[in-house]
Amino acid sequence: MTVDLQATPHERAAQGFLRAFGTPAQRVARAPARVNLIGEHTDYNEGFAMPCAIDRDTVVAAAPRDDDVVEVLACDIDGATGRFRVGDAADVGGSPQWLRYVQGMVAVLKEQGRAVGGAQLAIAGNVPQGAGLSSSASLELAVGHALAALNGWQITPEAMALAGQWAENVFAGCQCGVLDQMSSALGVDGHALLLDCRSLDVRPIPLPAGTAVLVIDSKIQRGLVDSEYNLRRQQCEAAASGLGVKALRDVDDSLWSRRGGSLDLVVRRRARHIISDSRRCELLAVAMEQGDLQEIGRLMRESHWSMRDDFEITVPAIDALAALVQDVIGDAGGARMTGGGFGGCVIALAPRDTVDEIRAAVVRGYRSPDGREAEVHVCSASGGAGVLA
Ligand code: GLA
Repeated sequence: MTVDLQATPHERAAQGFLRAFGTPAQRVARAPARVNLIGEHTDYNEGFAMPCAIDRDTVVAAAPRDDDVVEVLACDIDGATGRFRVGDAADVGGSPQWLRYVQGMVAVLKEQGRAVGGAQLAIAGNVPQGAGLSSSASLELAVGHALAALNGWQITPEAMALAGQWAENVFAGCQCGVLDQMSSALGVDGHALLLDCRSLDVRPIPLPAGTAVLVIDSKIQRGLVDSEYNLRRQQCEAAASGLGVKALRDVDDSLWSRRGGSLDLVVRRRARHIISDSRRCELLAVAMEQGDLQEIGRLMRESHWSMRDDFEITVPAIDALAALVQDVIGDAGGARMTGGGFGGCVIALAPRDTVDEIRAAVVRGYRSPDGREAEVHVCSASGGAGVLA
């Protein structure tokens, strides 16, 4: 199959739909990817995070069928297809991973009592895969909004985000928190989101004027991600239960100084990362509102060191990449690894006029362990998921 690399995801989904199903799509939905500026692994500890949705999307072109069969075309995976009955959506045993997200959304939304009929869906996107930018959450939410449009019901962004998280937890096998889905659901143009992962309150925080969001893909594929992710989650739960609280969100200074020392050494370090990174989110919100780039840089650097030393989710090549970018930025912004860890992307908030210099420094100074160059994406903070047509 020939792929038109100039075409937008919307155009590719619409063209793929027409080729596969012989008629034009009737509805189109989109959902963005996300980066997290600070607050890593805090979501399942009910703390704060500070993500922003970015202008990289998954798009689903859709039409209803008059039976209960769902046919799916994945335009970006060599035209792979899938087919299942709405009533059998939960049966993901023999399905490839990409199709499990689609089946998961159908199963969850149906389970919630929403009308879900048969459908034809064509999916296309421009979210780098396996880079930790939440291509899966953007797929879940784009499918969810396509189903809402086809079946004529409304849903709040929070409920859609929780449906996506549920689909991922139960049907795709990752015990993720709600960060990715909330970011994709509630993104605001030009803003990051101070996200309270307990109440699901979101406060949009404008990105400082004149800054760019750079997403630097290290090309280190995130190995071990699920097992290490689930292990971190267990360690955080062990810390919360050792401290006698529901979640690490509930640990204040006094409790930490009285009881932190009683925790197992590794578990204590894990908890220290969560507690400090959640606080850094609130401090970052203030620094961003004041346009204090020096403070933004300090917080992002500390967050990286905390992930490296206490949470142990970085790898040496990513540490070097973040340090290299930070060196170019100096006091005028910050850089750190973003996402679940063990590879993926470094994010930088930096003055727009330093973008070329950062790019040049990355080309000169970075190669992944298997010799690949990093890819630098200059992104803008984008609006949240919804129906395009
Ligand atoms: C992954 C998970 C999120 C979150 C981040 C780390 O992206 O899907 O829920 O835990 O890692 O902040």
